[in-house]
Amino acid sequence: MTFRSLGEFLEKLEGAGDLVRVQRPVARDLEITEVTQRTLAADGPALLFENVPGAAMPVVTNLLGSPRRIALALDAPDLDSVADRIARLVRLRPPAGVLGAVRDLSGTIETLSTLRTLAPKRVKSAPCQEVEEPTVDLDRLPILKCWPKDGGRTVTFPVVVTSDPETGESHTGIYRLQQYGSDTLGMHFQVHRVGANNYRKWAARGEKMPVAAVIGIDPATIFAGLAPVPEGLSNFVFAGFLRSEPLELVRTRTSELEVPAQAEVVLEGYVDPTERHVEGPFGDHTGYYSAPEPFPVFHVTRVTHRERPVYLGTVTGKPPTEDAVLGKAVERVFLPVVRLVLPEIVDMNLPVPGLFINVGVVSIRKSYPGHPRKVMHALWGLGQMMFVRYLVVVDADVHVHDLSEVLYRVGLQADPARDLELVEGPVDQLSISNPVPNLGGKVGIDATRKGPEDGFPRPWPEEIRSDPAAARAAEETMRSDPALARLLGRPAK
Ligand SMILES: Cc1cc2nc3c(=O)[nH]c(=O)nc-3n(C[C@H](O)[C@H](O)[C@H](O)COP(=O)(O)O)c2cc1C
Repeated sequence: MTFRSLGEFLEKLEGAGDLVRVQRPVARDLEITEVTQRTLAADGPALLFENVPGAAMPVVTNLLGSPRRIALALDAPDLDSVADRIARLVRLRPPAGVLGAVRDLSGTIETLSTLRTLAPKRVKSAPCQEVEEPTVDLDRLPILKCWPKDGGRTVTFPVVVTSDPETGESHTGIYRLQQYGSDTLGMHFQVHRVGANNYRKWAARGEKMPVAAVIGIDPATIFAGLAPVPEGLSNFVFAGFLRSEPLELVRTRTSELEVPAQAEVVLEGYVDPTERHVEGPFGDHTGYYSAPEPFPVFHVTRVTHRERPVYLGTVTGKPPTEDAVLGKAVERVFLPVVRLVLPEIVDMNLPVPGLFINVGVVSIRKSYPGHPRKVMHALWGLGQMMFVRYLVVVDADVHVHDLSEVLYRVGLQADPARDLELVEGPVDQLSISNPVPNLGGKVGIDATRKGPEDGFPRPWPEEIRSDPAAARAAEETMRSDPALARLLGRPAK
């Protein structure tokens, strides 16, 4: 089922018993966070806070805080089937983008027809513009203050729309917006983001960058905003692909930018390249407060919304959090895209405690000398994988999601004197251990088995494996004894 709006998705969740309406008054400062975190930690439902004192609209949190709701949002029985669909789409298009497809690919016609049917549709009137506020007053929105030392209330789950001034291509990303005043917000796009790149291009032309922030929209469009969508593929087209139905876009009132017609609330305005203002502290997904730092200022010049809008928020912090659940889903559904570039990769685990940017484990089919190091460097050159600071490469038969097994392989099979690849390069803006912001060390650990082809001079020992006949006999013996039979099939400790 395709959800065209946040409201349709909420209805579905409520019908499935996966949404709870909270009718008691709950404060938008700190208290919504506490209820949300406790609910998410218990794998609980999405929350609709209907009575938020001082707020003109209800607040939804924990919308996508469980893999089951993410799969439902993406209209799939599970995340693996989303991964399969993305693999088929990406295989259809060359890295050079849609135009390149015309020239380069034998599957051209299929590519174009698939993408054409997903192209957004333009509409003239839209639910998100049912009401146009006569003046801009951000205090009318239930913007949340999540943690005690946050520098201000923050729009935590907006889909921010910017455009490339050279190509006119629009882009969406989730970037938090801390409230500075009644019509200004901090535009927290980190330096590596496409939104920040668009900003630099507008700044180089000496022009203000038009911006629109969408608060509350159908979940596939949200997912397309937070996902590392391959370059050359529009987020709006990707959202249409995830929904299996094109997105409807409407022109904003104050600029050429287009926004999803079914949005709940739209903030329109601009960022002036000559102006910055300190953003933060903010309780971030590292579990630490991000230090105050200057960011561009988003001047909101128009607010439009539905007749009866719903405000969407999320809470970041030390996992478990909604963005951690989403990060895991991104890892699963984008594995085929990684495999397209590196077919030797069997599986990948970006463990939640590693915050998706700190620790990664990949298993590979190792075929030639230096192969694990080639994989490390290729991954460090692949989109947001550039941020992974500890990258472990193991053999194809190692289960990367079993971290005990991974640690066993690292401890036993990696020699710190020769199996570490130490490099320096870009690191995530939120990383805290690098002395210089955005630049730091990364290490690859080759924990694969070694042989003469790796220049390893000693014979690699043989691993102990059971004798199959003895194993079968043992199972029969155990099955015949009630006390032992119970132990069969239990996971090993
Ligand atoms: C809840 C949530 C909050 C996020 N907040 C920010 C943010 O404040 N700044 C930022 O640069 N990225 C943030 N991200 C990550 C980006 O949305 C993500 O990297 C996305 O792929 C956009 O990257 P791009 O602009 O390079 O395409 C957030 C992600 C989530 C799920």
